[in-house]
Amino acid sequence: MAEDWDRAAGSYDFGGDSFDLADPRDRELVCFVLSQALYGEATGVYCGKSLYAAGTLEAARFYLRQARQELNHLELFAEIFRKLEMEPVRAHWVIRLLSAHNNYYPLKVLMEHAIGEGMVLDIFKEVLIQTLPDADPRVPEIKKKLAVVCREEEEHVAWGEKETRRLLAEKPWLRHPFYGILLLQLAVAPFVVRAFADRARGHRVLRHLPGFVAYVQTQVRAQGRALGFVPAVEPAGLVRALCMLSGALLFVRSQFARSRSVLEHTYLTELGFRA
Ligand SMILES: [Fe+2]
Ligand SMILES: [Fe+2]
Repeated sequence: MAEDWDRAAGSYDFGGDSFDLADPRDRELVCFVLSQALYGEATGVYCGKSLYAAGTLEAARFYLRQARQELNHLELFAEIFRKLEMEPVRAHWVIRLLSAHNNYYPLKVLMEHAIGEGMVLDIFKEVLIQTLPDADPRVPEIKKKLAVVCREEEEHVAWGEKETRRLLAEKPWLRHPFYGILLLQLAVAPFVVRAFADRARGHRVLRHLPGFVAYVQTQVRAQGRALGFVPAVEPAGLVRALCMLSGALLFVRSQFARSRSVLEHTYLTELGFRA
């Protein structure tokens, strides 16, 4: 049974701890976080495939609008790098894995939009907006740009959630593999934290990392419960393992899915000419 949940109602409190943009060590960390964001925004070009596969005019309009917004975000992040005089680094393998495109539409909607962009939103809203130091004269302008990005990412997540609900109503069997995929995604998240384990000790912002990751995991689970595929009482043992297996199998199957265009078959109905 789906429960009510509002992402905006939650927040992780960094307690005013922020990075020092004059410290080379902190600059390297901020550069790492921003580089992951920049890569994520570059994957906005996947909207081209989504537009190709859009089954309804509403979906086609959304992906068109999203493509424009993501390209705009990409340039906004590039401006942030220039403003901070930083050079982007290669994205972490977990980020590349989590933001990979999926040609199987239900997984694309769940992984890219609902969960993926949901996590992105948490990172932009909580980490970047809270931990960039307001005392730095470049930061207020950067935060204005980030606020624009966050507003638009909220729209993308809302679309992903709406489509996930529709797909689950159409194909209720997806609940189990969706839950399994969520568990698998949550299992890889700590690998990013591990990359910082040594540096986290004694660092005023990084010491929040385990708490923040736990917060994101709680958010994702609450989102899954609200969407109706995460059970209120989560199973353990064999049932949990079977859900993970069905998620892994659906993911493997999705790797062989081909993107197909639909709108040239549905346009008359979509335009209201024919029932
Ligand atoms: Fe974006
Ligand atoms: Fe987005």
